[in-house]
Amino acid sequence: MATGIERKGTYHIVTFGCQMNEHDSEVLAGMLENMGYEQADELKDAGIVLLNTCCVRETAENKVFSLLGRLRRMKQERPDLIIGVGGCMSQQEGMARRLRQMFSHVDLIFGTHNTHELPDLIRQVVQNRSPVQAVWPGSGGITENLPVKRKAGLRAWVTIMYGCNNFCTYCIVPYVRGRERSRRPEDILDEVADLGRKDYKEVILLGQNVNSYGKDLEGLIDFAGLLEKLEQLDQEGGIEWIRYMTSHPRDFSDRLIETIAASSKVCEHFHLPVQAGSNRILKKMNRGYTRERYLELIEKIKTNVTGATITTDIMVGFPGEDEKDFNDTLDLVRQARFDSAYTFVYNTRPGTPAASLADQVPEAEKKARIQELIKLQNAISLERNLEEEGTVQQVLVEGESKTGPGLLIGRSRGGKMVVFPGTQGFVGQIVKVQITEAHLAQLTGKLLLKG
Ligand code: SAH
Ligand code: SF4
Ligand code: F3S
Repeated sequence: MATGIERKGTYHIVTFGCQMNEHDSEVLAGMLENMGYEQADELKDAGIVLLNTCCVRETAENKVFSLLGRLRRMKQERPDLIIGVGGCMSQQEGMARRLRQMFSHVDLIFGTHNTHELPDLIRQVVQNRSPVQAVWPGSGGITENLPVKRKAGLRAWVTIMYGCNNFCTYCIVPYVRGRERSRRPEDILDEVADLGRKDYKEVILLGQNVNSYGKDLEGLIDFAGLLEKLEQLDQEGGIEWIRYMTSHPRDFSDRLIETIAASSKVCEHFHLPVQAGSNRILKKMNRGYTRERYLELIEKIKTNVTGATITTDIMVGFPGEDEKDFNDTLDLVRQARFDSAYTFVYNTRPGTPAASLADQVPEAEKKARIQELIKLQNAISLERNLEEEGTVQQVLVEGESKTGPGLLIGRSRGGKMVVFPGTQGFVGQIVKVQITEAHLAQLTGKLLLKG
């Protein structure tokens, strides 16, 4: 099979799951490039294929199983192909063994705490030609200065902390990502300054719960303090916009709201996963707040931060959720008037406390509930977007829109997609756009050359 591409020496990474994983894949890519491997755009052209996996819901796992099935045939045709499985799924209790049994063609399994070992592990596979497994069960440390090969663009991800201590009863993440570990502020500041020098315009600070940032750093700094330091990072042509995800509604402090309100770089977009609107269910989920506290928090944000957009994650069908609980969720959605929401059907995750609850909601019921929820949220999202008609929004221009010639696309500070006529010269700039028309998923507008 001559493809014209030398396969040995090339790699391809398939990433599943959240931004954390997307960014971890950029680190995996960085390490492979440092070893002299080159990226193959297509999986079929790669000598090394890595799957960076997610196990937050069964659907994510099924995608990995099905890709591994396809890779079995590929390995039969090309026995020198190296197949590695890393990320959250590999870290799950008993999963490495299951993967080895089901997919004997996998050469390498590595956990979330072993990412930095990739170069050594690949060398072992190449030299010994026998399967290698490295899944450290603990919580891992932090390895600084790993090479990163970022996706091209204006936006860069920066991990500020690893792990999660919250143990929401439905969630697998704390089991596969370990305990919270914060990066030292100076390492984060150095990285962000470096990104500014490399012409990135926006950073997204990543952590499962960024509000916990610094709790393990002996009172040295908290998340608001980190944002203040980043705000002060004055550089010519440096990072202009800062976003973060995800923050937990439970510990979103007044000081944090004030810091964001006073900041010119931190965008006025608040992603605050609510998960449910029923106090009974919130308690069973171990979320640590009530619907009243949550709605109060949103009010406080809206009062203090002009033009704030608020988005959320909501789950339906948690064990024991009855009609009344679900109606409480719908009611909260009506009151909160989210700009948008990621909606999920509860999925049992083995090993989590909720998995052993007796009163699981029937699948048909969950489906009906999510449809009703999506319908309601879509109507509200459109209303919220319509409220932006006539307003002037700052937009970071990302590129030309695929929807038509002469159209540019970018994101507003509130995180909404905005499309407007303009020329390529504006790409990479922050411009002012007057919103002329609102749709469900995006806004259209016209460029105001002068603010
Ligand atoms: N740390 C973040 C995100 C975690 S995962 C946070 O706390 O918000 C992203 C979303 O997946 C969660 O907000 C939740 O809505 C959803 N999720 C997590 N576990 C789930 C499960 N077992 N079933 C369905 N959705 C789940
Ligand atoms: Fe999961 Fe809760 Fe941690 Fe988010 S805060 S990662 S939902 S345990
Ligand atoms: Fe999935 Fe792991 Fe992220 S389980 S959602 S990839 S932290």
